[in-house]
Amino acid sequence: MNILILGSGGREHAFALKLSQSKKVNQLFVAPGNAGTAIIAQNVAVSPTDFEAIKQLVLAKEITMVIVGPEAPLVKGIHDFFLADTDLKNIPVIGPKKDGALLEGSKDFSKQFMIKHNIPTAKYQSFTKDSLVEGKLFLETLKPPYVLKADGLAGGKGVLILNSLNEAKDELEEMLTNHKFGEASSRVVIEEFLDGIELSVFVLTDGKNYKVLPSAKDYKRIGEGDTGLNTGGMGAISPVPFANEEFLQKVEERVIKPTIQGLQKDGIDYRGFIFIGLMNINNNPFVVEYNVRMGDPETEAVLPRIESDLFDLFEGVAHQNLNEKSFTVNPKIATTIMLVAGGYPEAYEKGKEITGLEKVTYSTVFHAGTKQENGKIITNGGRVMAITSLGDTIEEALKLSYDSIENIKFDKMNYRTDIGFDLI
Ligand code: AMP
Ligand code: GLY
Repeated sequence: MNILILGSGGREHAFALKLSQSKKVNQLFVAPGNAGTAIIAQNVAVSPTDFEAIKQLVLAKEITMVIVGPEAPLVKGIHDFFLADTDLKNIPVIGPKKDGALLEGSKDFSKQFMIKHNIPTAKYQSFTKDSLVEGKLFLETLKPPYVLKADGLAGGKGVLILNSLNEAKDELEEMLTNHKFGEASSRVVIEEFLDGIELSVFVLTDGKNYKVLPSAKDYKRIGEGDTGLNTGGMGAISPVPFANEEFLQKVEERVIKPTIQGLQKDGIDYRGFIFIGLMNINNNPFVVEYNVRMGDPETEAVLPRIESDLFDLFEGVAHQNLNEKSFTVNPKIATTIMLVAGGYPEAYEKGKEITGLEKVTYSTVFHAGTKQENGKIITNGGRVMAITSLGDTIEEALKLSYDSIENIKFDKMNYRTDIGFDLI
């Protein structure tokens, strides 16, 4: 089996590492990959959204399965592209088709889906520039803080949470009439604020059967104590201690089962991951959002805990017999700390040499924004690498991760020293 992974982050390095451990995988390709994937797979300089180039690569390397890391190719329809092509149609793609990818590609669609299938979520209404006046009136009926969401993909920046009613009205106008988030905000979802503790649950489904993967919590803010600007994620912990068995049972009954059944009822044949962003309010789950892929850095904390052969699970997805696949999870706690470039998530520099990686022995280093140049590993993005350790307690796992980080150096390296602070 020759496998192609699309993407270049820590998530894709984690997929590559896990798949490289499968006896059934012969050759592993990553497009475009990073300096970490280059060690265990072959990187190919192809963009995940350049479908024609991906087709040529798949045919040239006799690829037998494609794993899609990020959302953009899914929302753009890579799975549909494969199914419509005579040469590609029998090659399984792990990731939903365009119809399923709308769960992430359109907030309005995902809210309608949740309401239709009775899945607990915040009350909402959607508006366009023609209904701006109604949108402002709707805001007046809500209590602060006000939650405004661009309908389309906005690189994780399309959600605004505002305390003042006037500011919320102004921002709504900015989004709808002045294209604050471009085409993505030509429709805006306004919803009730959910006051609870956030966590994520991940599901792998073949459209009929599913496996619930370990839960995780992401730390999105750049600053200690969850302060400052939002980032792609500065660290993750898995499992989440406040997501106890009783809570997870509620998630399965109230959210996961109706989601899978809802997709079936709506005629959406969904093969891939569903990332369910949840708010725990008094031990009851409410869905904040769906993503149609794994999270990053959550993957770097979740996958190291999965003991089963990941390729075997993907085959289950492709052949719709996921129910026959064994699935076991390591009970240890995984902690992931993201090392980022100084300045990130605002302007930052690339091209800094990274040293000391060879001294890391107790943790796994997942590369993200890195590349190899003249025999050196240099930074090539804002989020540079994720350091994951397993322990019997959060404290033990965190100590291993932070001890490992002591060895790693690059100019203006930054990271949060308080990942997991709220869970200990
Ligand atoms: P989303 O892209 O929909 O996940 O929103 C980004 C972030 O905004 C979430 O991870 C939450 O932290 C926050 N958020 C979104 N919707 C709500 C809501 N209704 N109530 C409270 N916080 C929210
Ligand atoms: N870490 C959040 C995400 O992947 O969307």
